[in-house]
Parts: sequence; C-alpha cells; structure tokens
Amino acid sequence: MDSAFWHSRWENKQIGFHSDSFNVHLEKFWKSLSVAKGATVFVPLCGKTLDMLWLLKEGYKVIGVELSEIAIQDFFSENNLDYKTYDEGAFRYYSSGDLTILHGNFFDISEQEIGQCTACYDRASLIALPREMRQRYVDKLKKFHKMASQQLLVTLEYDQSIKNGPPFSVSIDDVHALYTDTHTIKLSYETEIIDEMIGFQKAGVTSITERVFTIT
Ligand SMILES: C[S@@+](CC[C@H](N)C(=O)[O-])C[C@H]1O[C@@H](n2cnc3c(N)ncnc32)[C@H](O)[C@@H]1O
Repeated sequence: MDSAFWHSRWENKQIGFHSDSFNVHLEKFWKSLSVAKGATVFVPLCGKTLDMLWLLKEGYKVIGVELSEIAIQDFFSENNLDYKTYDEGAFRYYSSGDLTILHGNFFDISEQEIGQCTACYDRASLIALPREMRQRYVDKLKKFHKMASQQLLVTLEYDQSIKNGPPFSVSIDDVHALYTDTHTIKLSYETEIIDEMIGFQKAGVTSITERVFTIT
C-alpha cells in the first residue's frame, strides 16, 4: 500500500474504517495490560481515531503517527482541540497537551520521536498493510522493546480470495509468526462481525472474525 493510496482515501473521504465512537475492545481489554497511568502510548497509523481521546481521558500521554495531514487536521478541528505545530527531523509535530500526532511515515520513526512510549495500541494498523509489508512493520515496532511489549492488537480475518484488502486478513497463525519469537501472545477475545460489514457482504464474504490480542 503506497502513500498515494492513503492520501487519495482521505482526499475522497473513503474512510469507512473510521469510527465515531471509542473502540469497545480498547475500553474492555486495555486494562488487562496494566499500563501505568501517565505512560506514553504509541498509536501507529492513527488516522483520526477517537481512541486517542479515550487514552488521554484514562490518564495516558499519546503519540500517534499518520501519513495524511487531512486526517490530523480533521482530528483536531472535529474535536475542538487547539494545537501547535513544529517541524523536526522527518516529521511535522502536531501537539496539544499530552497528545502529539506526527505527520509523516511510520517507517521513518526513530527513538527520537517515540523513545518515551512504553505501550502500543494497534487497531486497523497492522491490518491496513499488505502481507509483504507486515514483517517490516512489526520489526520496526519491535525496535522499541518496552513499547512493543505492552500492546493491544485488534485484527480481522476473512476469506481474502473473495475480497482484497485493506483491511487485510490476518490470522492467528499470522500473529504468531510475527510475534512468537519475542513475545507472549494472548488471544483475549474473538467475535463474528459480518452482520456489521455491509461492504464485505456485498462482495460475497460470509464470515469475518474480529480478534483482540494482548502482546507482552
Ligand atoms: C485503516 S486506517 C486506520 C486508522 C486508525 N488506526 C483507526 O483505527 O481509525 C490506516 C491509516 O494508516 C495511515 N497510514 C498508512 N500507511 C502509513 C504509514 N506508512 N505511515 C503513517 N500512516 C500510515 C493511513 O493514512 C490511514 O489513516
């Protein structure tokens, strides 16, 4: 998935992945990670997710990274948040209190930008990437050991031969292949969500399993 694909999605408002409410799995399962209040949580490929507000509300600091400036500016304006911007390294920083969103490419992040993060929330981020980009994505996350070791991961699995991604199908085996050498993976929850996914139904998909993993 190249940058042009995502820029076009935001320009054309094709953002069906965005939710106008907090993610129910975040609300339910985040506490199982026992992340200390005041810690800084990394939200890779953050879009304009309201989940960043949930994390702030719960007493965390948040750093997101997002390719699309439209997404970032929408996030601040739709939530009536003042922000300041400054450029440093490969990123433009959008900063508001305990929240910073980095405008730029996830693959350019370094210790300088997210070294203080000690936990990670991945919803619709790993699954936004095609199979051939996943290992690179996870290898990058794993460079930040503390952060990658307190992670909530939400995935979808469906028959990829019927419909192409994104979101891409990620199986339990895929998650194990990516993390099992270095991390403990716990499947916290799984549920069938095809009834909520009209676009997938129209494409002929008959089942989608949503899963929540804790990775420690
Ligand atoms: C499927 S959306 C999910 C957004 C968010 N996690 C959510 O739950 O709503 C994926 C997002 O990742 C962004 N993105 C894709 N590739 C990226 C990259 N390499 N660096 C930063 N952001 C990226 C896209 O612009 C898009 O907003």
